[in-house]
Amino acid sequence: MRDRMKELKKLFLKTYGCQMNVYDSERMTDIMGNQGYTMTDSPDDADMILLNTCHIREKAAEKIYSELGRYRDIKSKNSDLKIGVAGCVAQAEGVEIMARQPLVDFVVGPQTYHRLPEMLEKLNVGEKVVATEFPVESKFAHFPKRLDDRTNVTAFLTVQEGCDKFCTFCVVPYTRGAEVSRPVTRVVQEARELVGQGVREITLLGQNVNAYNGPGSDGQGWSLAKLIWTLSEIDGLDRIRFTTSHPNDMSDELIETHGECKKLMPYLHLPVQAGSDKILKRMNRQYTAESYIRLIEKIRSARPDILISGDFIVGFPEEDESDFQATLDLVEEVGYGFAYSFKYSARPGTPAAERMQVSEDVKSDRLQRLQSLLTTQQKAAQSMMVGRVVDVLFERAGSLAGQMVGKSDYLQAVHVANCDVPLGTIAPVEIIDTHSHSLAGVLASSSHQG
Ligand code: 5AD
Ligand code: SF4
Repeated sequence: MRDRMKELKKLFLKTYGCQMNVYDSERMTDIMGNQGYTMTDSPDDADMILLNTCHIREKAAEKIYSELGRYRDIKSKNSDLKIGVAGCVAQAEGVEIMARQPLVDFVVGPQTYHRLPEMLEKLNVGEKVVATEFPVESKFAHFPKRLDDRTNVTAFLTVQEGCDKFCTFCVVPYTRGAEVSRPVTRVVQEARELVGQGVREITLLGQNVNAYNGPGSDGQGWSLAKLIWTLSEIDGLDRIRFTTSHPNDMSDELIETHGECKKLMPYLHLPVQAGSDKILKRMNRQYTAESYIRLIEKIRSARPDILISGDFIVGFPEEDESDFQATLDLVEEVGYGFAYSFKYSARPGTPAAERMQVSEDVKSDRLQRLQSLLTTQQKAAQSMMVGRVVDVLFERAGSLAGQMVGKSDYLQAVHVANCDVPLGTIAPVEIIDTHSHSLAGVLASSSHQG
């Protein structure tokens, strides 16, 4: 038994949902790495299967149960296999998960996964474990050093978590808890670790990242803008991004930083959700379509080439055709370079779930109409790039021989053929063509490489 404990064990970890879950999965990998677990790409030879889940829409949550059902055979062949559910479904449904799917051995919420080592001890003696309380201590204070086996040149770094906004459709304030910002020194230290491992671009994450207010070296709460300026002093860190922002926390200082900080990339994800003031009010978004449009104008006057992306919900309760038309009008007026759009999904426990629902057919029709407009805008934003020279950070080899793939400053994927540069190179690329989800280019010069 002792010898078996010493053997390396295998962890199969599958991640659903937002970038914050991607970050959490990396940290769980670090934690489990310290417990002797290496990663495997296949659930069949795993000693532990862990699903890091998303609860934002019903479909996302239901996927987890069908995925779990697939592990029945694997578990019947390996009684030592431990199956766990982490993330927001774990937080929202907790112990019910085990009742619905007895294959599950443990459930761990997004604020509790630093306790995985203690949980393992219980699991190893055959106990089932549920850890979904919001602990007083922050998980961030308990993370081990990042494992130094990264190959990525871009990374996510969570700086803020949770949300106090309580939009009436959203589960996040319940699953992730109240807004908490990490101290500046911790963020800077983690950014330095990442840069030391070859990372050149960091995306700062938070459910409401522009409300960041972490304690700084002077003991005061520092704004996101101040954090960005501090990070921009790190040599070797060339690009900074942040997501997701709420329009009401887009301060003048942050807008100016977009105009002045060279390392802050010209891309801003600023969800509006809807274009009708009636719906915005019922969503508790606390702004109007007009004030959002004025805000975009202000941001564009600070950084004219900035690419704006957004999130939209169609078919929110009581949305009628004229409300939906107001969303289309707003999209026409703003012009999005990229967007995510969703049918409203009623989430148990949120206020909007109690209101008059829009029929599924109407939702599907509106989604299709909105997406067709957004796709036209995305294509136009890509076509505008043709003939321009843009900096590209090369992130991986492409599927064709000699091809490399990277991202432009505007976060557009760029493919370059016959491209013999090391990963992590930032080089100017002339854009020569546009495809549905990417651009094609050629290296514009070899003088900027390295
Ligand atoms: N239904 C549909 N979309 C939702 N979102 C959040 N909650 C819901 C819901 N109940 C969308 C919002 C948010 C994005 C992350 O997911 O557009 O910005
Ligand atoms: Fe959800 Fe974002 Fe609204 Fe917070 S601000 S409740 S995370 S949609």
